[in-house]
Amino acid sequence: MNFLVSAPGKVILFGEHAVVYGKTAVAASLDLRTTLQFNELDGQNILLSMPKLDLKITVSLAEVIELSQNSPKLTEEKHEEFYEFVSKFVDKLQYSGIQKLGLEALFYLLIAVTQSESLEIKPFSLFLDTKLSIGSGLGSSASFAVCISTSFLHWANLQKNKLTKLDELELQKISKFAMGCEKIMHGTPSGIDHTVAIYGAVIEFKKPDKLDPIFGVKTMEILLVDTRVPRSTKDLVAKFKELKIKFPGIVDAILDAIDQVAQEALKVIRKMRTLDDEDHWRDLGALVEVNHGLLASCQVSHPALEKICAVARENKLKAKMTGAGGGGYAYVLLPPGVEEEKVQQVTETMQGYGFLVTRSSLGGPGVKID
Ligand code: PMV
Repeated sequence: MNFLVSAPGKVILFGEHAVVYGKTAVAASLDLRTTLQFNELDGQNILLSMPKLDLKITVSLAEVIELSQNSPKLTEEKHEEFYEFVSKFVDKLQYSGIQKLGLEALFYLLIAVTQSESLEIKPFSLFLDTKLSIGSGLGSSASFAVCISTSFLHWANLQKNKLTKLDELELQKISKFAMGCEKIMHGTPSGIDHTVAIYGAVIEFKKPDKLDPIFGVKTMEILLVDTRVPRSTKDLVAKFKELKIKFPGIVDAILDAIDQVAQEALKVIRKMRTLDDEDHWRDLGALVEVNHGLLASCQVSHPALEKICAVARENKLKAKMTGAGGGGYAYVLLPPGVEEEKVQQVTETMQGYGFLVTRSSLGGPGVKID
């Protein structure tokens, strides 16, 4: 049994930070995907290879079967106990940092799917690679979790001669597995990353549980610009909170304004499904700039992000930071029919400042099995 699974990364188009306080956010899938190659093997081992985590390891099948037989049953209430059990097993493999997290996620999902789908664990190899940069806010961990969950679910189906349909029921199962895994990675994830990895498209999101994919959106193109300035989502969320505590009246008004921006953007995006009008792109561009300004006023921008917005503006394009800010990524909206020379010029200017520029289209498919 050999198959390939892939899932996209995400970009937040509107509403980051405000989403933490219950406001609307809009995210979309990137055409940068994580791919997983699964092969059933002969022999007595499990081979795991994740080049982006610099990880290649052979684990004895007998030990993994023992782990699965002794592990507590995973339920919503027993997530912590289950995770600690898996984590103790991974401790013995003597990895740390991101490699340990990767292994914890993998064994968490293997045992979870084994329990829920009566998977029979046999020797296999799993090769997991991604076009996304790791830990930079593009949803790499969620795309990993979705690829791994889908592979094990598909494997369990194949063992029972069942077709994997990836219908709503199966996608919800994958979502549950991936959410558990994201909790290991991020503590209290919003769920937006793995929802985009599963459904693709553009997603309207609001806490606690609004996660509506908007299908049929015309392909949107962006330049995804990596400032290469490292940042921590946790620190930036804390910085935003500090400002909100100090100036609640001001920051609350800004949060409401960001909410309005996201709502208006959703209206435009929904209209764009049926009518590709120049005015829609102009409106979307205006909202991109307004959202960036509001975030910058709350001190979560960075000189490198401001530089990107300035270069875009000089070229009559619209740009905005995406994600937590403080470095990380920005995107430049590319309306249909934008002159190629202009895109080239903007790309080269940004590269001249040391930024990494990737042209990407948004709203493509979610998880796929080939
Ligand atoms: O980690 P990132 O860059 O995808 O950004 C997270 C977005 C925030 O709104 C800042 C935090 C959150 O949990 O939604």
